[in-house]
Amino acid sequence: MNINIDINYLVLINKKKKLPKYWIKNVELISTKNVLNEEVKVEKETLKNFNCLKESLIKKGIIIGINSSYRSIEEQQKIWNMFKEECGMDYVKKYVAPPGYSEHHTGLVIDISIINKDKLICDNEDMIAQQKLFSKIHKQLPKYGFILRYPKDKEDITGYNYEPWHLRYVGSKKIAKEIMDNNLTLEEYLKK
Ligand code: DAL
Ligand code: ZN
Repeated sequence: MNINIDINYLVLINKKKKLPKYWIKNVELISTKNVLNEEVKVEKETLKNFNCLKESLIKKGIIIGINSSYRSIEEQQKIWNMFKEECGMDYVKKYVAPPGYSEHHTGLVIDISIINKDKLICDNEDMIAQQKLFSKIHKQLPKYGFILRYPKDKEDITGYNYEPWHLRYVGSKKIAKEIMDNNLTLEEYLKK
């Protein structure tokens, strides 16, 4: 059985920082279902806190679910190839991490979908249009240890465009609050 002995919930993965080699051995991934009823895996504490976030949002009339979470390097490669074919390289550079360099490899990330008026919204452009709903969702994130990993206007720092759906668990409500209250990226927080 894998046990979370040495998980660094603040691990930094970006275009320059690869997934550490030891990572996957130390992480406990739990199987659950996504909004399409497909099996997905999520790191144990991340899933526990996500479920609490989801419950708190239901009380506000907002329904979210998991779209994507843990991805192996092979799965990321398939996604990268698919987006390159369908949307072109310019799009890929802005929205899809190269295999080995995706936070999704950690299990600490959940890409959410929204169910709005019984309609499932998971397409990137349709999601970005849901500004009002996302601002309510983002407000709740720190209470459950999550941050918005790719905020608006921070592309130069994160390397990616605004992704309102990509939620990153950082293992501490206090740190998540500091990051979100100050509109920081993980890169900026870790440099302080
Ligand atoms: N969409 C993020 C950058 C990823 O592919 O990991
Ligand atoms: Zn993502």
